[in-house]
Amino acid sequence: MTVVIAAINGKGGAGKTTALMNIAGEYALRGKSVAMIDMDARNNLTTWWTDCHAKDAEAEGIEVYSHKTTKGLERWMEENARAYDHVLIDTPGEDTSIVDPVIAWADLVISPIQPSKREVLGAIDSFENVVRVNGALGRHCRHGVLRTRITVPVRHTELYRKIRPIVEDKVGTYLFRTEVFERNVYKDIHNGIGTLQMQELTEAITKARRETQALVEEVDELLTGKALKGRAE
Ligand SMILES: Nc1ncnc2c1ncn2[C@@H]1O[C@H](COP(=O)(O)OP(=O)(O)O)[C@@H](O)[C@H]1O
Ligand SMILES: [Mg+2]
Repeated sequence: MTVVIAAINGKGGAGKTTALMNIAGEYALRGKSVAMIDMDARNNLTTWWTDCHAKDAEAEGIEVYSHKTTKGLERWMEENARAYDHVLIDTPGEDTSIVDPVIAWADLVISPIQPSKREVLGAIDSFENVVRVNGALGRHCRHGVLRTRITVPVRHTELYRKIRPIVEDKVGTYLFRTEVFERNVYKDIHNGIGTLQMQELTEAITKARRETQALVEEVDELLTGKALKGRAE
């Protein structure tokens, strides 16, 4: 069965594309076939892929498609999705018209946040959209909030401490235990050098790889229903 994962947060640029690149790289490394769909008119994902191609650094097992319209997405999903183990859909920060159609296909929506009020609110919005679309279509798409670009000083802020009680207790969605730290390699991979998993194993890369493995394990747990929250029902 094809698993569809979308990255959505209408307020912010906290790392949707980066998170999907890393998750895609991890699945590909595990021998899965991965399609990535770029729904963002800024084309970050598509540009990354073109740059990777130019540098002969395409990741085996990953294909990237640019389909910016919802119609294009529908057609692509109907015709091609079942050929892949994973379809990862990247979405724009602002264009809300594509959010519902993307959720309608997704098994899991990940909302990356940096610890800023605006991005937390954006993630809550995304969760509410998932709940609404689930209700309207009788689907069971899950939702999780992913903390990204975390630094040690950030962890000492009041907002950081409030994230878990807000996300899990008040809103009632899932907060990934895995946090994505601020790391240079996550910036570097945007420059067409392939995926994180293709980089030479330095100490820094090893840490990023571990973080990503933990994230993918959590994603899989959430999808198989082992995690209690994130059901968005
Ligand atoms: N964990 C991280 N550590 C360092 N830089 C990051 C991290 N996540 C994202 N970035 C940087 O922030 C920028 C925005 O991230 P991106 O994934 O493109 O966000 P979005 O897709 O949500 O707009 C990227 O250029 C990337 O270099
Ligand atoms: Mg992006």
